[in-house]
Amino acid sequence: MIDWVTIFSWARDIPVLLIPALLILYWYIRIPGNMPKNIPTVPIYISLLGLWSDMGQDDIFDRWLREPLEKHGAVKIWFAGRWNVLATRPQFLVDMFRQEDVYAKAGSQKKIPWSVIAALVGDNIINAHGQNWKLYTSIMKAGLQRRITDSAPLLEKSRLFVDILVEEQKKLGIEKGVLVNPIIQRWALSCMGINFMNVDLEALERPGQRLEELQTIIKKTLFKPLFFNFPDLDKYPGLFRQRKDAFAVMQEFGDLLVDTVRRRIQSTDQDGEQVVDYLDRALKEGKIDEEQYRANLKVTFLTAHENAQQLLNSTFWVFGSNKAIQNKLRAEILATDTANPSTETINSLPYLYSVILELLRLYPPVSQLINRVTTSTCALGGSITIPNHTWVGWNAFGVHTDQSIWGPDAREFKPERWGSDVKSIQNALRSKTTACHFIAFNAHSRKCLGQGFAVLQMKIVLCELVRRLEWDIDPGYELKLTSGGIMAPLGLRAIVRERQV
Ligand code: HEM
Repeated sequence: MIDWVTIFSWARDIPVLLIPALLILYWYIRIPGNMPKNIPTVPIYISLLGLWSDMGQDDIFDRWLREPLEKHGAVKIWFAGRWNVLATRPQFLVDMFRQEDVYAKAGSQKKIPWSVIAALVGDNIINAHGQNWKLYTSIMKAGLQRRITDSAPLLEKSRLFVDILVEEQKKLGIEKGVLVNPIIQRWALSCMGINFMNVDLEALERPGQRLEELQTIIKKTLFKPLFFNFPDLDKYPGLFRQRKDAFAVMQEFGDLLVDTVRRRIQSTDQDGEQVVDYLDRALKEGKIDEEQYRANLKVTFLTAHENAQQLLNSTFWVFGSNKAIQNKLRAEILATDTANPSTETINSLPYLYSVILELLRLYPPVSQLINRVTTSTCALGGSITIPNHTWVGWNAFGVHTDQSIWGPDAREFKPERWGSDVKSIQNALRSKTTACHFIAFNAHSRKCLGQGFAVLQMKIVLCELVRRLEWDIDPGYELKLTSGGIMAPLGLRAIVRERQV
């Protein structure tokens, strides 16, 4: 029998429960009254799209962010549990990047210190500000920027990478493409290990090691849309089992990494000491504590492999879908007439250099970051008044594809736009970075310290790839970019063929 009394009492209670819940939600997501009024607001549901849609970040940008950003130069946007100011107008970015004390770096360790991502990265050279940043830089910069004179170790890893691609293709036959990203990850981990951790992780030689496995888990865990948008939920690992597991994974990664580098056989690299050696000494001398040591070790490990990994992933898409570019690059590389190019030879190739910059322009791995906080009320670009303690950030994909900055062909992959000789390409890179027209490596005082290494590493792997292989995109593959986080194609499959060399 229907219990009408119970149903009525429930119906009566619903508003009693619902109204406070709605009020709390309203309080949580309302736009603070002191946020700038003269820039538009991106509706909150756009930031939450990841909860129910798998649209790529390029599509999301084109559909909802491009117009307001190109018109106003900045917008208010919901991200990581709060309202922020996101800018793309170069004049605003120059202002933001030059005034490090007003727009101070403040990563997750400051913004959401209780979160899984904060547990992963801690206070490190990328997200620290002031004295801590100066301390970390004084310790690590020499290792991050050491000049690599010998191309052989990176060539060797790239050679192994190509061997594995060929092997995988043989297993699949000629109809189906190889899933490239997991193999690229192993290449990127190997290159990072031998250049920053002074250890050969043998990720290419011995697949499936726990450190490699953990990278895949970490990347999936960090960008879970629900927790990415509502990081306050990370405060309750007791309620969310998967967050409890996520904290455990972050701890395991840190422990395993420290253990791996401590067990390494001490060796001297002909190009000088590596980041890990400098960090070890700083810890021993008491310049940094164990926590700072771990945070900087982890962030080096992550940054030094993930960005190059995803850039190479995008490269497979661009070259596989545009054979003319692949062929033009191949012609330049084959003209060197060597399978073992020295760093001098590699650095003398203009098309190779410009292709990499163009890749970084259209597929910037770090496509958006909101990791600076205002330290006083300030006027961004002299016109947008931002209150104290507001998070601000930038979107590189937006800057790099804005026609008013890059011309009507901004969306086209045109390496020639960078120049035809190495000197003019270098000059173009310098001037476009200073003007914040190109921010793939950020600009001014906090620009990337691994830029030189990343470009060299890409040049070396591309030399080996196009010399030995030709590739097409699997006909069944449709391009979809990641919906947030690092920008790159998802699930790309390429059909590779070995060339007669
Ligand atoms: C394609 C490869 C790479 C890209 C696209 C890239 C991009 C970036 C970007 C956008 C920033 C600024 C981050 C921010 O504003 O918070 C940055 C900073 C940084 N990157 Fe890279 N990066 C790459 C490779 C590397 C490598 C290989 C290393 C070596 C460990 C590295 C080390 C750093 C460091 C230490 C900083 C912080 C600099 C500072 O704040 O003083 N990066 N990178």
